[in-house]
Amino acid sequence: MYGDKVMEHFRNPHNFGELKDADAVGKVGNPTCGDLMWIYIKVGKNEKGEEIISDITFKTFGCVAAIANSSILTDMVKGWTLEKAEKVSKEDLLKEMDGVPPIKIHCSILAADGVKAAIKEYREKKRKE
Ligand code: FES
Repeated sequence: MYGDKVMEHFRNPHNFGELKDADAVGKVGNPTCGDLMWIYIKVGKNEKGEEIISDITFKTFGCVAAIANSSILTDMVKGWTLEKAEKVSKEDLLKEMDGVPPIKIHCSILAADGVKAAIKEYREKKRKE
């Protein structure tokens, strides 16, 4: 059974949709079911001059757990530095979701890989500039 938080984010997802002026997009999929997720990030700077995720949205074609973990992850890392966000662990995300059936664990950690993929794309783009 899913917890209340998961159901709430599934019914009313936060940060849903494409981010038109995104600096990078991370695309990940669940190979067992073929579902897909895109995480869009906009990068800004904090008062210390560190690069942060100033905005983040998602588009997910997937199950309850996939949609809920996208919503919860995007809420969680908004405002984080890129260094901190790229270290977000699957355990952190599962803890934050607070109630996922064991069979849905794989679907529930996709967004952690999604944000890492977006940061990787951002860094690669910058390197080429
Ligand atoms: S069943 Fe496809 S992401 Fe969960």
